[in-house]
Amino acid sequence: MAATCVVRRLALSCQRYGGRPLRQQQQQGRRLASTQQAEVLKHQILAETAVSREHLTPELALHLITPSCSLWTAPPHTSPFPDPFWAFYWPGGQAVSRFILDNPALVRGKTVLDFGCGCGASGLAAKSVGAKQVTFNDIDEVAIEAVQLNASKNNIAIDDVTTSNLVGSSGHPHQVVLAGDLLYDFEFAGEVLTWLQEADRSGSLVLIGDPGRFALETHPLKATLRCLAKYELSRATLLENSGHPQALVWTFT
Ligand SMILES: C[S@@+](CC[C@H](N)C(=O)[O-])C[C@H]1O[C@@H](n2cnc3c(N)ncnc32)[C@H](O)[C@@H]1O
Repeated sequence: MAATCVVRRLALSCQRYGGRPLRQQQQQGRRLASTQQAEVLKHQILAETAVSREHLTPELALHLITPSCSLWTAPPHTSPFPDPFWAFYWPGGQAVSRFILDNPALVRGKTVLDFGCGCGASGLAAKSVGAKQVTFNDIDEVAIEAVQLNASKNNIAIDDVTTSNLVGSSGHPHQVVLAGDLLYDFEFAGEVLTWLQEADRSGSLVLIGDPGRFALETHPLKATLRCLAKYELSRATLLENSGHPQALVWTFT
């Protein structure tokens, strides 16, 4: 088998139909780290990432794994983080954030859920243009620590974080739901789209960001979406995501 590295492994997980490690993670959800664990994680994140603005929203400085970081080329087993999805700013998330920054009225004064927030950029974008309250949700507790670091880097206050798996939960309390790059696995995409459709039907504005992944493009629920915006990805993002030159923002028709 060809040698792989952290960045390649994550790109493949998102490209491959039905990546197993992700499915296991999705079903479990995890607890928030204790204060002591959180400090260790923050220290590791700062040691293994670099601050980057090389993406569609240079307004936000983010702690990410970039080509200048040793984890960019390191084999996965040497990484202190099992699957650092939060250490990349995925095309779908970039598109959603750009769309929010360019259309602040969509979130101003509203309650927002950044579902599968990863580095938290989309929620931070919403907060920076006046969202009333943002909940950052990711089943990976390391992501939540990365969000806290990214928030303080940008002088943005965090309202609420949760590592609960909300997919399938009933009741949709947020006025806006952001879903950046969550549709990478056909089965999971079906669960997510059904849940997001319910959020839409209960009155939430749902913004989905996706670079054209197979799981969305071939899903029957794709017919229920309309495109709001399309962005060309930066050269830096293309290096991480071989094959997807653009990212689109979708909402329900
Ligand atoms: C491809 S990354 C996208 C991150 C971010 N939205 C972005 O666009 O940069 C997918 C993220 O979703 C998280 N995730 C996967 N399943 C989830 C679930 N059921 N609930 C919440 N987060 C989930 C992963 O931990 C990961 O951080």
